[in-house]
Amino acid sequence: MAELAGYRRCYPGTQPAHLHPLYVSSVKRAPSEALVHLPHTISEVTGPCISSSRVDVKAFDLTRQHHGEPLGERIVVSGRVLDENGRPVPHALLEIWQANAAGRYLHKVDQHNAPLDPNFTGSGHTLTDGDGRYRFVTIRPGEYPWRNHYNAWRPAHIHFSLFGPAFATRLITQMYFPGDPLIPFDPIFNCTADEKARNRLISQFDWESTQPEHCLGYKFDIILSGRLATPWEK
Ligand SMILES: [Fe+2]
Repeated sequence: MAELAGYRRCYPGTQPAHLHPLYVSSVKRAPSEALVHLPHTISEVTGPCISSSRVDVKAFDLTRQHHGEPLGERIVVSGRVLDENGRPVPHALLEIWQANAAGRYLHKVDQHNAPLDPNFTGSGHTLTDGDGRYRFVTIRPGEYPWRNHYNAWRPAHIHFSLFGPAFATRLITQMYFPGDPLIPFDPIFNCTADEKARNRLISQFDWESTQPEHCLGYKFDIILSGRLATPWEK
């Protein structure tokens, strides 16, 4: 049987450490034994075939999922999904979830004392087009407190989940906003030792997708494997 070409592994330091004691939850989650290196087999280099059928506008426009408009600052988040060689990944499934403008998730576990928004659910999905491009319309999420340490606050962020062409290219990560003063203090952001790698999690303000009198645009390109891979959320 011919040898399968696997995906290139990530460079050391460019992905979050399993154990990062300042991120308190990582202490219990981190493996206590050395990891076993498994070769990529057909199970890893193949994956779900996502249909190229159209996605309903309500799925990628989170401001149109209810009768009224959600509170907060309307934004467009767009970019490209690329493989380890910089080639676009078409028909990749992206799913996002986020807090509302007040920093509250619509989830029973989230008991933060901030209001829910009846016009905002905070989740959506879309597919990349033939050039690997995607686009979401949403509102800028609020920062929220968490109990990792005294006076801990998460920077504003949007959670992303991607299915690339194979299970080896599966990615769950978070996108941050440029200039957020909380980023340097965030233990989750700081889990990735390599500064350039973790800075790839910060989106860029984008005039091209900013619309006059309507919304600001942010660009967030995602690389699914290899030397410049976007870091995982551990
Ligand atoms: Fe979050």
